[in-house]
Amino acid sequence: MELWSRRKFFLTSLTGSVVASAGKLFGGTRSNGGGPTALSNLAPVAQGKRPLIISSANGLHALDKGMDILKKGGDTLDAVVAAVTVVEDDPNDDSVGYGGLPNEEGEVELDASVIHGPTHRAGSVASVRRIKNVARLAKTVMEKTNHVMIVGDGARRFAVAEGFEEVNLLTEHSRKIWLAWKARSSFNWRPGIDSPEWKEHMAAIFDGDETQIAYAERVIAHPPTGTIPCMAVDANGDISATTTTSGLSWKIPGRVGDSPIIGAGCCVDNEVGAAGSTGKGEENIKISGGHTIIEMMRQGKSPTDACLEAMARIARNYKNDKKKLGTFHIYFYAINKDGAHGAASLWRNGYEPSKQASYAVHDGTEARLMACTAYFDAVGGDQ
Ligand code: GLY
Repeated sequence: MELWSRRKFFLTSLTGSVVASAGKLFGGTRSNGGGPTALSNLAPVAQGKRPLIISSANGLHALDKGMDILKKGGDTLDAVVAAVTVVEDDPNDDSVGYGGLPNEEGEVELDASVIHGPTHRAGSVASVRRIKNVARLAKTVMEKTNHVMIVGDGARRFAVAEGFEEVNLLTEHSRKIWLAWKARSSFNWRPGIDSPEWKEHMAAIFDGDETQIAYAERVIAHPPTGTIPCMAVDANGDISATTTTSGLSWKIPGRVGDSPIIGAGCCVDNEVGAAGSTGKGEENIKISGGHTIIEMMRQGKSPTDACLEAMARIARNYKNDKKKLGTFHIYFYAINKDGAHGAASLWRNGYEPSKQASYAVHDGTEARLMACTAYFDAVGGDQ
């Protein structure tokens, strides 16, 4: 096979198998911030109850931890950090903490931020390697230094000085997907013309596991930007929030998204509410989304309407061109001081086209998923 036609074979074969295995892909267990619920109506969760804790859908199983703390009268920041720590520790969530998909060099780099409403303090870390619990690290920056943000190797060294354990964050699963991404994107990292074809190469990487191959092909074609933002209001109306992520998969080393940016991926005003985001962080940074949502709620908008206003500003940046906007997905989440909550997604679907975009809410009874309000009532977002 000629070189040009061999490359075409690789691409065609990859695209073909992505389409062919879409059903399996979209039924996968991996999570990157989208909801696991089919495109159907999700029952609403009551508004205006306190204490309240919400997160992106991938935090559904972790909100009990935060609610336990709130019910015992604990601090709202302790509650949200405890909840996201469950997700950071989970090797099966490849958008956050341990097992996060790495940068283009195969290094997992994490970003996180915290804001403590009652004391008006904040902390954040970015591009941190080898430290698993970066939400807690951001809280340590807030508590132990007079800085707000520490990045890169300085953040890692600060963590070690504060007693955090250094670990290899790249799981075998994430390493294999990274290898498959390299094979897909570089002539150097795939078999030469005297070697088995692409499918055999993928089968060799994943020991023939079709589900893993299909999942790898999906995240190679559509690099995840999943994350977990989590925000809580207690019985007294005090509010805190955190956002933690491994950021955009296959990013250039040092790329920082919105999650550690106070006022973008995380924002709290104890008199008003809290806001967070998942999805393409660059779009959020450009509109200071978290701050925008807080200011909209201060003017009287509901959390959902405030999130929709932030979404409208992103859409306006592209003159509402659905083709351009269809190259990414983004969500906003918010609570207000009264215990009202809401979320908006750019598209009706989650990161998986067949699933409803949703978020997780715990109002003291149980953690449940609720539908996001879609800015565009259409399926989209880099499909
Ligand atoms: N929203 C996560 C990121 O873009 O890094």
